[in-house]
Amino acid sequence: MKQFLISGPTQLHGEFTVVGSKNTVLAMMPAVLLATEPVTLHNVPRISDVDAMRAILELFGVMIDFHDHTMTMDASQAHYAPVPEAMARTMRASILVLGPALARFGRVSLPYPGGDYIGQRPIDAHIDVMRGLGCEVNLEHNTIEATGYPRGGDITVEAMSVTGTENAITLAVLAAGETTIRLAAVEPQVVALCEFLNLLGARIVGVGSNRLIVHGLGPKQHLHGGASTVIPDYLEAGTVAIAAAATRSELRIRQFWHTHNEALLSVFRKIGVDFTLEGEETLSIHPAGQLRALRVRTDVFPGLPSDLQAPMSVLLTQADGTSEIFETVFEGRLNYMHDLERLGANTFIRDVHTAVITGPTPLHGHEVVSIDIRAGATMVMAALLAEGQTTINDIEHIDRGYEALDERLNAIGARIERRVQ
Ligand code: EPU
Repeated sequence: MKQFLISGPTQLHGEFTVVGSKNTVLAMMPAVLLATEPVTLHNVPRISDVDAMRAILELFGVMIDFHDHTMTMDASQAHYAPVPEAMARTMRASILVLGPALARFGRVSLPYPGGDYIGQRPIDAHIDVMRGLGCEVNLEHNTIEATGYPRGGDITVEAMSVTGTENAITLAVLAAGETTIRLAAVEPQVVALCEFLNLLGARIVGVGSNRLIVHGLGPKQHLHGGASTVIPDYLEAGTVAIAAAATRSELRIRQFWHTHNEALLSVFRKIGVDFTLEGEETLSIHPAGQLRALRVRTDVFPGLPSDLQAPMSVLLTQADGTSEIFETVFEGRLNYMHDLERLGANTFIRDVHTAVITGPTPLHGHEVVSIDIRAGATMVMAALLAEGQTTINDIEHIDRGYEALDERLNAIGARIERRVQ
């Protein structure tokens, strides 16, 4: 078991640079199956979910070279392979191979993906888009088996699913004919995926809107090679900004793209966080006075991301009065509250979508668990505020989504020790 031992309280200072976005690179990597020439990605985060996606792509015969933060992938010799259950279960993002593999090989076999338990996480959006583009899908033995090359069509993405939209796009790129994708998600990673695919020769129109038109290149056609840079991780950026605000720190965050975090900045203004923006890509947090309680609601982009809901709760423990969190995207993403309570927060889970936090409360060290990627980062943020030592167990979840979070936070004033037992 891996643990973080964190001594607090601490304030952060200096400068933090956000790395490449996990959920963007996890969509871009499998999309390389659509290309038959080498593709290079810069600013790839060194996280375990990237390693897991790499293992899946290597199974398909993609040759991968990964140095520092640059990854070159060559799918010229790629071939069909069924994904073993153990690989599919490591992370939910394994579902992102469905679109590219089916478009390239006319066939895909993927056991139901695993990932964080943050709600029901159905897969109907993915099944619908494959069927909507003319592919056959069978769901037996807990495995998604799909066959057939995609043809164009008019499809609607159930629940504006982010990865469902990404699979619709990668399928449609090599479809025979034109595809209209309605109720497409517009999260920054979806926009980045479209721009990346267009760079490699895809023809996607309406990028950034909820209605995409994809002019398919046709079955057995391919994208060409190229190089692209992964956008900064707006979720890491938001998480560190929240930590700085909660600890009343003076911190400059580089690669904080304002346009990706408008909803967070709006919440900051309402709560009373003191910050300044420089250019389009830098945020400075300054120590604030008394913070105000607020009702916070998560939403699809450009609303406040569900992934920032848990980190936000740490800030709300320091706000004066009773705050409410309304998690609209996932049911079951409030379970970390029990651990936050162990650290001294005054919380109450009203139902699977709503939690109430009354503050301000001092936090104190305790032993807690990282139950998923975002909840794990939340425990780190809370531990920075807490008096004494906090032990966080199961930090493997944190390593899935944040590159060397301990080292990077220690460089700006945190006291985090990594322990392997
Ligand atoms: N939904 C359906 N049917 C489906 C799929 C989803 O009803 O077939 C519902 C879900 O139950 C949920 C909502 O739609 O209520 C949103 O789910 P979505 O499919 O958009 O989530 P996802 O694509 O599985 C991605 C990110 C998550 C992030 C969500 C929401 C990746 C690899 N994962 O998941 O990121 O929370 O979008 O923005 O891009 C994380 O990084 O820690 C993480 C969990």
